[in-house]
Amino acid sequence: MNNIIIYGSNYGTSKRYAEELGRRMQVEVVSYKELGDINEYTDVIYIGGLYAGGVCGMSKTLKKWKKEKKSLCIISVGVSNHRGQKNIDAIRENIKLQLPDELYRMARIYHLRGGIDYSKLSGTHKVMMGLLYKKCKSIPEEQRDEETKALIETYNQKVDFVNFDDLDAIVDDLNF
Ligand SMILES: Cc1cc2nc3c(=O)[nH]c(=O)nc-3n(C[C@H](O)[C@H](O)[C@H](O)COP(=O)(O)O)c2cc1C
Repeated sequence: MNNIIIYGSNYGTSKRYAEELGRRMQVEVVSYKELGDINEYTDVIYIGGLYAGGVCGMSKTLKKWKKEKKSLCIISVGVSNHRGQKNIDAIRENIKLQLPDELYRMARIYHLRGGIDYSKLSGTHKVMMGLLYKKCKSIPEEQRDEETKALIETYNQKVDFVNFDDLDAIVDDLNF
């Protein structure tokens, strides 16, 4: 068995989940930035923070995966409610756009909640979130979806929704 957990994380929440999952599953954990050849692995778990719908580092990393694949698990980590079905559907639609069809079809996809600390954001991310906040506030309250509400509620704050208990179901579900 040749498996690996790869993470894409700018501010550490996905990294924390990846390391805990690696500890529980006894699987090597590496940042996508430090990954060698992905084709050495047959079973891959990719955990990444959501950035405007994109899973950090995912498409760049997985598009190099050419070898006959065995299993792929993708775990998104976002600040919005990871249990809301509408939100999950939207995240999945976005993930679909970031992957070749074959990989999307074989992937088991899960969602976890991360966190955000506005005082630690890079200049670019601060600007992006400021623009997004303005856009969200302009949407009438009754039309706001989960993601919009979460962004407004957490704007300019420090919130940490990381909950390792949410990994239990994933560990039970994955059989490698
Ligand atoms: C510029 C920016 C864009 C973001 N876009 C999304 C998003 O589309 N959906 C979401 O749920 N969270 C979004 N977030 C929140 C991050 O996904 C969340 O902070 C996550 O925990 C970050 O993971 P990391 O700490 O591993 O980098 C965004 C955060 C920033 C700074």
